[in-house]
Amino acid sequence: MCGIVGYTGPREAYPVILKGLKRLEYRGYDSSGVALLNGELKVYKKKGKVSELEESVVGKNMHAFTGIGHTRWATHGEPSDRNAHPHLSASGQIAMIHNGIIENYASIKRELINKGYHFNSDTDTEVLLNFIEDIKKNNNGTLEEALRIALKRIVGAYCILLIEKDNPETIIAARKGSPLVIGIGKGEHFLASDASPIIEYTKEVVYVNDYEIAIVKPDELILKNLGNEKQTPFIQKLDMELAAIEKGGYDHFMLKEINEQPDTIFDCLRGRLHAEAGTITMSGVQNNIQALTTAQRMVMVACGTSWHAGLLAEYMFEELCRIPVEVEYASEFRYRNPVIKPGDVIIAISQSGETADTLVALENAKQQGAFIFGVVNAVGSSIARMSDAGAYSHAGPEIGVASTKAFTGQLAVLAMMALKIGYAKGTLDEKRYRELIKGLEEIPEKVKQVLNDTSAIEAIAEKYKDAHDFLYLGRGYNFPVALEGALKLKEISYIHAEGYPAAEMKHGPIALVDDKLPVVFVATKDRYYEKIVSNVQEIKARKGRVIAVATEGDTVIPGMADDVMYVPDADEILAPLLSVIPLQLLSYYIGISKGLDVDKPRNLAKSVTVE
Ligand code: M6R
Repeated sequence: MCGIVGYTGPREAYPVILKGLKRLEYRGYDSSGVALLNGELKVYKKKGKVSELEESVVGKNMHAFTGIGHTRWATHGEPSDRNAHPHLSASGQIAMIHNGIIENYASIKRELINKGYHFNSDTDTEVLLNFIEDIKKNNNGTLEEALRIALKRIVGAYCILLIEKDNPETIIAARKGSPLVIGIGKGEHFLASDASPIIEYTKEVVYVNDYEIAIVKPDELILKNLGNEKQTPFIQKLDMELAAIEKGGYDHFMLKEINEQPDTIFDCLRGRLHAEAGTITMSGVQNNIQALTTAQRMVMVACGTSWHAGLLAEYMFEELCRIPVEVEYASEFRYRNPVIKPGDVIIAISQSGETADTLVALENAKQQGAFIFGVVNAVGSSIARMSDAGAYSHAGPEIGVASTKAFTGQLAVLAMMALKIGYAKGTLDEKRYRELIKGLEEIPEKVKQVLNDTSAIEAIAEKYKDAHDFLYLGRGYNFPVALEGALKLKEISYIHAEGYPAAEMKHGPIALVDDKLPVVFVATKDRYYEKIVSNVQEIKARKGRVIAVATEGDTVIPGMADDVMYVPDADEILAPLLSVIPLQLLSYYIGISKGLDVDKPRNLAKSVTVE
């Protein structure tokens, strides 16, 4: 949450920072601001989206070669001009931006107030900034020294960038728990929360680690730990193209990303799945095959959509590998003092690889000796780096706040893992293994078919867009898909939606059914088909309006439902990769028909780096 950008070098800093903030806006869009260093230290900030900041500085002198910028997802203090970053220290000499939460800010604030400090905002950031300045003043030392001392007292998560009036061309940065990438150009450096603001200028990057401080000048990058020992920067090459982070002719990133799924799933399978040879190449799995095949238990740890992928993985791993699986919300798991035993494998699922709850849950599990396998999309992210082994989902950068292509990428990785482990373990016979490999190979083409003509889905969206509530129902592998469909609708269209196992409906939610309630059934042909047909009848008997996701060629469900969205036939284990697509599109079209900003839904942020 919150996006940060910094630049120092021979270019004008403001345009570089502004463009970077627009690329990072998915991380938060409550307010934004820049601080520029050009003999003077100037700060411009504004409530609202980055475009509002841009408008507010028209005609102002923005000339500078060093600067920092921030786009905010509010934690402490409402979205407003005064709470927007950057913040200026009491003396006006230092400007700072921050992504994260300082948990012990209240006690530090009290100390500073007792010393006579006043605060211009309600943020924890301004407290940390003045704390640093106070240490600098008292020690008569440098900003870097003061920062090091301050960080030793800080509890919480942060990525901060600081610039100082009397320290030209220099940005000082530090991170713990919130991401920071430094792009290395020729005589220039770029700093950002992720690589998207950097990719246009350089492909050489350094991912800063927790508890590291970076002193960044145009020609120099020094990394130190909190003990003031120099660290060798590990320079990596970015494997990302600019086109991947642009809209490419689509109106919205969400629509672009939904439509990319035939390619992203193909990319995820490419080089791994060899249907003819009947092999799956995944070095992260192969190198740890002993630990994975003898696992006594698997625990899926994730949040949001990634949690839904974990739930599907539970069905896959239990069926194909006969390993007991638990699926945990990272936010609960991290605080619950969970029992972790030798032989447990933790599977961390995350698009961003930066979700704070997931990250801390994993750190705790790791301390207890757990083996962590990461299923992550963002290459080089914190979760990817702290996992013992892993497999990337290769969906490419996902910019729309609602997760779409990352979800299907996660499912593809988890399906391959379950197949490989089940086969190696002997719980999955050759015939079924080959059947499923072949089925998985066919998925990208089938997704393409779903996306070929979306006019029926658009019409359904138009018909139901004014409903106040939706119910999503599914059984077996389609139950997590129902949950995901409901989450997508809530996020994008602000319509209340609940997902339930279809059979649970009669234990309560059926009381909601009347002639106004749309009930979305994920009712593709599988082992529960007859049962879900009965559930549809139960809803119809109570005059509910049924929208069904059905298998092409089915005549029974379409005969009962008010509206139908079709997907090609697929094995029930793989069907979620198809049945989720119409649900993504349904929420997208309802969102845009209501005139909402589907890429940046209110109150949300893409990368939830606070707990
Ligand atoms: O980056 P992660 O996969 O760890 O993010 C987890 C959730 O925050 C995320 O899936 C969220 O629920 C999305 N907005 C769903 O569309």
